[in-house]
Amino acid sequence: MDYDLLLDQVIGLLAGETDFIASAANFAAFVFNELAELNWAGFYFPAPSGELVLGPFNGRPACTRLPRGRGVCGAAFTSGRTMVVDDVHAFADHIACDSASLSEIVVPLCDDGRVFGVFDVDSPIRARFSAQDRAGIEGLVGAFVAHVRGSRVTPS
Ligand code: SME
Repeated sequence: MDYDLLLDQVIGLLAGETDFIASAANFAAFVFNELAELNWAGFYFPAPSGELVLGPFNGRPACTRLPRGRGVCGAAFTSGRTMVVDDVHAFADHIACDSASLSEIVVPLCDDGRVFGVFDVDSPIRARFSAQDRAGIEGLVGAFVAHVRGSRVTPS
């Protein structure tokens, strides 16, 4: 996968748009459509309750609220570190929104050391996300974070 090309494309896709939801929606659609062998790609953002609430995504309808600190998303959000799970059935705290998902990567959205959400990508293929995919997806998410800096929404 040519992640350098995808990075250029995503920067172009987001350029000029100041609306947070529009940018997040197009980012999720871009990743979902450009990367092979995915069944879901989208955001979760923290509510004041501590839950992670579903944001813009592509794929089948998903769990709308993840309890604080739970699931692969909660682990990435709490630790501020990317989580790569090669086999979701072997990850005890995985929250199954779609039984088709077999592997997953969750990248925290970090801005100046503060985590303000996560970007979650699921695949029906076991161990779909290599070290190259991890670095590439982290780069794409980094471009998204740089783009939306200063224009966030808080779920209720
Ligand atoms: N599997 C995630 C939940 C979100 S869905 O995959 C869209 C998790 O364990 O946090």
